[in-house]
Amino acid sequence: MKNILYFASLGPLALLPIVAGTRTKSPRASLKQCVQLEVPVPVIADNHHYEMPRIDSTIDAVHWTLNTTAWSTPNATERITCTVSVKQTFRIRAQLCIPTKGGPRADILQIATQGRGFDRRYWDVEIRPEEYSYLDAAISQGYSVLTYDRIGTGESELPDAYDIGQIPVQAEILAGLTTLARSGKLVASSQILPATTGIPFPSPFHFQPSKIIHVGHSLGSFVTFFFLSSHGALSDGTLLTGFLLNKQLGTIVVSHFDHEFAAQHDPSRFAAYPSGYIVLTGQSDIQKLFFRKDGFEPALLEYAEKIKQPEAVGEYPSSDSAAFVPASEFKGPVLFMAGEYDYVLCGGDCRGQYLEEASRGLFPASPKVEAYLQPGTGHALTLARNATGGFGVMLGWLGDRGL
Ligand SMILES: *[C@@H]1O[C@H](CO)[C@@H](O)[C@H](O)[C@H]1NC(C)=O
Ligand SMILES: *[C@@H]1O[C@H](CO)[C@@H](O)[C@H](O)[C@H]1NC(C)=O
Ligand SMILES: *[C@@H]1O[C@H](CO)[C@@H](O)[C@H](O)[C@H]1NC(C)=O
Repeated sequence: MKNILYFASLGPLALLPIVAGTRTKSPRASLKQCVQLEVPVPVIADNHHYEMPRIDSTIDAVHWTLNTTAWSTPNATERITCTVSVKQTFRIRAQLCIPTKGGPRADILQIATQGRGFDRRYWDVEIRPEEYSYLDAAISQGYSVLTYDRIGTGESELPDAYDIGQIPVQAEILAGLTTLARSGKLVASSQILPATTGIPFPSPFHFQPSKIIHVGHSLGSFVTFFFLSSHGALSDGTLLTGFLLNKQLGTIVVSHFDHEFAAQHDPSRFAAYPSGYIVLTGQSDIQKLFFRKDGFEPALLEYAEKIKQPEAVGEYPSSDSAAFVPASEFKGPVLFMAGEYDYVLCGGDCRGQYLEEASRGLFPASPKVEAYLQPGTGHALTLARNATGGFGVMLGWLGDRGL
């Protein structure tokens, strides 16, 4: 009875057949309809080959961090030995969710790219999702959301960690997903996998957003920036979280954290990860990188350890050597958002460190470039005690900009 009433209020979507056999869902799950996709994304990009030690064991992993951060080691740009031209189609695991009730913002799509150490669950935390899931917060405000696993994480393809899993390829994957979404062909060009959350999508389903907002966290914000600097016209606005141009950027380097060779660290989880994939060692490293004392619940630190993801080493030199080319074709508003006490971005204290002029310079055609520090929080905004407060700022800011 409840379900009948529910579907009766769906608007145009109610006219499409709803897949039978829906399990009983919580009221929250019924706010969204989701489809699980395996998307083939064709990419053309110029990566580089960097001179650095290989990693085939945990001893190699520790050596790699010390070697690449030694004062005598040339910087990443100087370690480039050749260009690696990538022309390849990548298999990307993604989830598209739309608000069940439709509404004026349902055709605004947010595409979210998480950072190192996480897969797409960063945006859809499974512990008390009503507080910690950014996906659900965005859905409840009427947005549609696409999350995906960056290559080398989750259920997406595991490419060569040295020459392929780099920033230029990842920025082009984001461009590819955005282009597919804009053209309305994302679902049609993907393999549709069995649903795991929300009400299953009606099938066939056509979704073509009128606007796309790009949301990033940490390395995902970096990837988003590089996407915007070469394909700015494909985006209508951006929320770059866990990212702030600031006076301390670069002071905390990879040797401040302990990494191990993923396959050796935990074969039960990471046996499939080949040479060059490293992973944070344990909860103390994860705390240091992502959390601020009193700003998180211990269960969320345990969760971050449980869902942690390996990192392709090629991400390090390719982000260090990437030139910050202004996103001159991007005409949307920009919000940088960092935890007040972010360690990896600001050496543990972001207050007074934001570089406003430099940030504006990266977005010369944007009407608004702003920064916000989320109080009492470290690097992982969705796992912080006050995650909900942060989501309110992000979504409220978009609403105020007419998005
Ligand atoms: C770092 O590794 C490179 C090989 O990739 C080697 O030539 C260099 O001597 C090493 N530097 C240090 C300080 O160990
Ligand atoms: C790397 O070193 C070169 C040459 O010394 C220098 O021009 C360049 O600015 C350095 N790059 C970075 C990112 O520090
Ligand atoms: C939670 O976040 C919101 C938005 O940033 C902020 O206004 C509020 O003061 C925060 N609450 C606490 C307890 O820090």
